[in-house]
Amino acid sequence: MPGKRHDIRLTNLAVGYGGTPVVSDVNVTLPGGKITVILGGSGCGKSTLIKHILRLHDPLSGAIHIGPHNIMELTRRQWACLKLRLGLLFQDGALLGSLTLGDNVALPLREHTRLKPREAYELAVSKLALVGLEKFAHLYPNQLSGGMRKRAGLARAMVMDPAVLFCDEPTSGLDPINSAELDQLLLELKERFDITVVVVSHDLASMRTIADHVVVLGEGRVLFDGSRDELEATRDDYLRRFLDRLAQERTAPRLSTSRLDPSLLKMDCSELWEQVQE
Ligand SMILES: Nc1ncnc2c1ncn2[C@@H]1O[C@H](COP(=O)(O)OP(=O)(O)OP(=O)(O)O)[C@@H](O)[C@H]1O
Ligand SMILES: [Mg+2]
Repeated sequence: MPGKRHDIRLTNLAVGYGGTPVVSDVNVTLPGGKITVILGGSGCGKSTLIKHILRLHDPLSGAIHIGPHNIMELTRRQWACLKLRLGLLFQDGALLGSLTLGDNVALPLREHTRLKPREAYELAVSKLALVGLEKFAHLYPNQLSGGMRKRAGLARAMVMDPAVLFCDEPTSGLDPINSAELDQLLLELKERFDITVVVVSHDLASMRTIADHVVVLGEGRVLFDGSRDELEATRDDYLRRFLDRLAQERTAPRLSTSRLDPSLLKMDCSELWEQVQE
């Protein structure tokens, strides 16, 4: 692949499952060497879009280009090669619990390169250093905090020197300080390695820190595609509500739900139940 800056071009794209579209009429370019943040309400199809770009599902129609390649037209072998250059940070880091951090990060190297195990491990530790975790390479994922697991996931996503890095909700579940640190890491990785970064997020603070480009999904389509400044200046009502975090008016009554009858419990807790309820 020439260079590292890969635009991702989505043309007349419709994505969904079982023939039913989740998002249609997608005509956007995620610019190479920049961070694009994909925003939108829960269930609007952000992860679905990413999964289709990674060819985990086939589009219902339209084309996806990564750099010069129409990914649906690549042979299996060409796609397998290209996919090695696409890093993915899953929501929970998706580390294997039975492996140490070092071995987790070394795994793609062991699978896809001819490096000796020791060399793979050393390279993995150097990637852990990128995210400040080199001293923790011998620990298992359950010995780490959520924020550390995310950073380790990022090290693993970076281990094959990707041209494009996809991050699905990288800051979800993190406190504001950890989120801000992760944002800084993404900015540093973009600058240092000149990669294209695509971040799915709900996190407006994060979007305001890292986004060069923003795509907002909703109502089964692209509601916005442009720079962060253009988004901030929008007068569109839905987008303003989204940006200003205004609640949508609900028509359904809230908080009316049936209560659990303690006599249904297998243990007799009725006395304690009453006390606790008072
Ligand atoms: N594998 C699947 N098969 C069928 N439908 C799916 C599948 N995955 C997701 N969907 C549906 O597609 C729609 C979009 O889901 P998606 O996970 O892309 O939303 P999202 O924007 O990422 O939401 P969130 O912010 O909550 O992660 C939802 O209605 C969901 O039920
Ligand atoms: Mg999602």
